[in-house]
Amino acid sequence: MTNKPNKPIMLFDCKTAQSVIGQNKFLEGFEKILNHGAYCQGPETKELDEKLAQYSGAKYCSTCGSGTDALTLALMAWNVKPGDAVFVSSFTFVASAEAPVLLGATPIFVDSDPNTFNMDPKDLQRAIDEVKKEGKLNLKAVVAVDIFGSPCDYDEIIKIAHANGMKVLSDSCQSFGSVYHGKKAGSIADMSATSFYPTKPLGCFGDGGAVFSNTNEENELVKSCRVHGMSPEDHYDNVRLGMTGRMNSFQAAVLLLKLTILDKELKERVRVAKRYDSELSSYFGKQKVLDNCQSAYALYTIHCEDRDELMAYLKENGIPCGAYYPRPVNTQTAYKKWNTRSLPVCEKLSKTVLSIPMTPYLDDEDLDYVINCMNEFAAKKQNKAA
Ligand SMILES: Cc1ncc(COP(=O)(O)O)c(C=O)c1O
Repeated sequence: MTNKPNKPIMLFDCKTAQSVIGQNKFLEGFEKILNHGAYCQGPETKELDEKLAQYSGAKYCSTCGSGTDALTLALMAWNVKPGDAVFVSSFTFVASAEAPVLLGATPIFVDSDPNTFNMDPKDLQRAIDEVKKEGKLNLKAVVAVDIFGSPCDYDEIIKIAHANGMKVLSDSCQSFGSVYHGKKAGSIADMSATSFYPTKPLGCFGDGGAVFSNTNEENELVKSCRVHGMSPEDHYDNVRLGMTGRMNSFQAAVLLLKLTILDKELKERVRVAKRYDSELSSYFGKQKVLDNCQSAYALYTIHCEDRDELMAYLKENGIPCGAYYPRPVNTQTAYKKWNTRSLPVCEKLSKTVLSIPMTPYLDDEDLDYVINCMNEFAAKKQNKAA
């Protein structure tokens, strides 16, 4: 048994980047804002919009208050409304489905692929056929979630959605920095939404998000909806419904600094994932990243039949871990009325997945310990079974 490191092992690490970049740099950024006084959507947010668009390869980026705002704003720009069907992964954080529901649309939950954990294009096609056959809803959009940072099968999902007259919104809330066939998150689907919640691959010091789009028209609609549907010509004429969805300048200042180390942090996440991929026992199933793709590894997630026992064992041994997500959205109280389809893979995943420590700052000592503990658990189980 490898000795437990003399320092805590982290599941997420939102703080170390502060000292990597230097606390003073953050304070300098905050001081600038205190001096110019534009606390909301100041020059920092404008600079960030440009830098994020440049980084992702999307034509336009508009920062906003959170990932949930970003999803909602994108759907508002497409005028999603009651009577619309929005197809969404069910094995996800609730916000992916909450956004269409807030706009009065009907969420149609889609099952996951058992290997990638992402939306299964075959089940998307089945769900579309079912809604068409019923003939009650207007086919509007697909929300495809890059779960744990790993890109969806966009070629298939976009092909199916477009063939049915629908747009695809990528929920890239966990995958900023990921790559799909040479394209970065933000530039792959018709529009994309990301989150800068502190635990995300690019995290700020509070809540933040961004919408990425490829047309000026969509970007202008997002910008208008972000401030209550304001007209760009007359700020006292609100020409559509919107929300308070602005990003504050302090979070933008943080993100401008964090963006400078994002690629380095992503490389370190890949280093950690590679060790897990190659050294963890085959007793654990691992999330498959599609060929020619790179996950942003917001989380590293395995699956095994005795997940709850493994979780207790790891916690006893000082290894933090979490079951993301123990309930698919379609089974949650507020969403049960839309639980109309059988989603066996989502159900199974919710009982078997476990996310284990994934931060850019885990060192070999931490990883040796985590891997050894997990492999010991697997060996005990396998010996019992033999
Ligand atoms: C897949 C997914 N979608 C949406 C969100 C919502 O982002 P936020 O918490 O910034 O509103 C999250 C955040 O956890 C997420 O993981």
